[in-house]
Amino acid sequence: MRPRAAEAYAGAVGAVVGDLLQRLQHLRDRHPQHLVPDVAAEFYKFGLEGISSVLFESRLGCLRQEVPRDTEAFIRSINTMFVMTLLTMAMPKALHRLFPKPWRTFCEAWDFMFAFAKGHVDRRVAGAAERLSRGEPAEHKCLTDHLVREEMPMRDIYGNVTELLLAGVDTISSTLSWSLYELSRHPGVQAALHQEVAAALGPGHEPPAAALARMPLLKAVVKETLRLYPVIPSNARVVPDRDIRVGDYLVPRKTLITLCHYAASRDGRFFPAPDAFQPERWLRRGPARHPFASLPFGVGKRSCVGRRLAELEIHLALAQILLRFEVRPEPGGAPVRPMTRTLLVPEASINLQFLSRRGGRAAGTPPSPTP
Ligand code: HEM
Repeated sequence: MRPRAAEAYAGAVGAVVGDLLQRLQHLRDRHPQHLVPDVAAEFYKFGLEGISSVLFESRLGCLRQEVPRDTEAFIRSINTMFVMTLLTMAMPKALHRLFPKPWRTFCEAWDFMFAFAKGHVDRRVAGAAERLSRGEPAEHKCLTDHLVREEMPMRDIYGNVTELLLAGVDTISSTLSWSLYELSRHPGVQAALHQEVAAALGPGHEPPAAALARMPLLKAVVKETLRLYPVIPSNARVVPDRDIRVGDYLVPRKTLITLCHYAASRDGRFFPAPDAFQPERWLRRGPARHPFASLPFGVGKRSCVGRRLAELEIHLALAQILLRFEVRPEPGGAPVRPMTRTLLVPEASINLQFLSRRGGRAAGTPPSPTP
């Protein structure tokens, strides 16, 4: 997907960002310290609502106070599927017969997700057919409309839509959570970013998606977050039908190779102070960086198809959150580290304080020293 194609969904994504802001406002208002506990869970719902509005032009109600039951069950199924992926992969084949439950649970989770996606696709397709029967022109507003127009077999549409629904949830949630976590611990960077966003989105300016072109620090923050916390921590490829040479290694044909992004993007040879959060490094002019040192979206033909959409969602959400709130670490909270659960996820809840900005300054509590 090209950046221009992603921009076509800016309106739909912007509406979901509006709901996210309301939800964050509500959660921080009801907490005495203006804390939003487990921000990843909130961004998870934002991810699902966002991708659903792009796929079906319909809303799932994830950001409402009362989340619809089938949407909640879908969210639980994604979680179950990821946990069971690790378990079923680690279990030797013979054990599956003795302990059938993990595999059965894994399949049930997938079945539910396919049925959920199928229901939404079918509703969209039926709506389109009804409009056509009334003599109204066909709409090509959402991704499902485009897939149907390509005359892709329905079975493939169901499969693709399920995968897209899944792919757009943890990825968005993790990247937004870690971005705000790092910004809360780097108040200088957050202040500079707030200034940049406020200047670009001030009254009378063009729509937010167009203004993103004037927010280089915002993009650098997201790149740096994905360097430190690549939500998909490794990539795999099978070598083609001939041996290949990579540096000093001869890799035999048909070998499965796994590249660990996490290790590569924290390698001090390519990124000085590799464990430090330094978004400025992406803005400095200097000798060209190794092009494959940080590859959070993969590379080549099978790289992430949702990249431009993901960037649009993350940039729009971060810009609007920082415009409204100053984000601080949980008072007395311990640092949170990443861990692998098929994907890279926070090992503990990320809890953050959201202080309202009034006239450009956060209001509510006095400045606190940042850890
Ligand atoms: C920060 C957000 C995201 C990150 C870091 C990310 C990362 C990745 C990575 C590393 C891959 C494998 C690439 C490779 O093997 O070279 C991938 C594949 C994929 N991603 Fe994403 N992704 C993100 C968001 C999304 C979103 C929002 C969608 C859906 C709209 C999506 C849809 C997909 C799909 C369908 C594939 C499989 C592509 C294929 O096999 O051809 N991703 N993503």
